[in-house]
Amino acid sequence: MKQGRILAAVAVGVLGGSVVVAKAASVPAIYTAAQATAGATVFSANCAMCHGANLEGAAGPTLVGQSFAAAASNYTVGAIFGEIAQQMPAGNPGSLSHDQYAQVMAFILSKNGYPAGATALDYNAALGSSVPLVSQVK
Ligand code: HEC
Repeated sequence: MKQGRILAAVAVGVLGGSVVVAKAASVPAIYTAAQATAGATVFSANCAMCHGANLEGAAGPTLVGQSFAAAASNYTVGAIFGEIAQQMPAGNPGSLSHDQYAQVMAFILSKNGYPAGATALDYNAALGSSVPLVSQVK
């Protein structure tokens, strides 16, 4: 399994008659809980009117689950963050601070099953991030 890839599938092998199940690589922790909490507020004020209060979609597409980021979409954090930072909020792109963009990305990651960790998501690092973005929400 390629390192860093997030695979929904599990590899199943049969060795000497016993079934071996290798669990998929865990999803990386790339933002802090404080960022996600702040991001919820940013989202409510700047995104929810088009993407829904629960990210379910409205005028804009859903931002949660398999219709947002299935494994087959081959999204990365960098690609989605670039779209957010450069094109969102639609109608007023680039209007948020770098911190607010990182926070709203953290919120979207949290809603898609990515865990919070010790390291904050940095704006510039997020733009270049090749971490796969595959929703863990079915
Ligand atoms: C005025 C409505 C509107 C607002 C406000 C808005 N969006 Fe969007 N958003 C859209 C539309 C429409 C699209 C799809 C077309 C496009 O990509 O430009 C979209 C696309 C996206 C995508 C790409 C989804 C995908 O599946 O590729 C992301 C991510 C996103 N928005 C995040 C945000 C975030 C985060 C905010 C708040 C900072 C926000 N949007 C605010 C309307 C909006």
